[in-house]
Amino acid sequence: MAKRATKRDKRSAKQNLIDGLNEDLNLELEAVLRYLHHSASATGLLGHELREELKGDITGELNHAVFLADKITALGGQLDINPSMPKKVRTAKEMMQIDIAAERQVIKNYTKRIVQAEKFGDKGLVIRLEDLLAEETDHAEDLERLGR
Ligand SMILES: [Fe+2]
Ligand SMILES: [Fe+2]
Repeated sequence: MAKRATKRDKRSAKQNLIDGLNEDLNLELEAVLRYLHHSASATGLLGHELREELKGDITGELNHAVFLADKITALGGQLDINPSMPKKVRTAKEMMQIDIAAERQVIKNYTKRIVQAEKFGDKGLVIRLEDLLAEETDHAEDLERLGR
């Protein structure tokens, strides 16, 4: 009886993790689309700085998405690719604020995902997620510096 409950717990820990990774995957894809949009269309002096900052991050965010998609499949999960399109924004300042908020959101999500990966017992994934979390923290801090 206890054994069966353990198996079920393991399965639900795995499904929670896969669902969470799909959420992360879509946020990464949204970052790729938003950074492409913002880096190509930001104007003014701040826009110039933002372009320099974001252009370099597009590939990094895409690599994050590729890693997550492969991991979901490796875990036996289904990919749920359904990103929201970037909002139309007028000023570079608004773009920057949206990008900072989005980076802070993914930091929150990866913090939660690390706990789920630990619970599931995938130490390798924990380490990879910690690397992603560190990179997103760099992104958030670099963007926040632009606004000071
Ligand atoms: Fe990312
Ligand atoms: Fe990022």
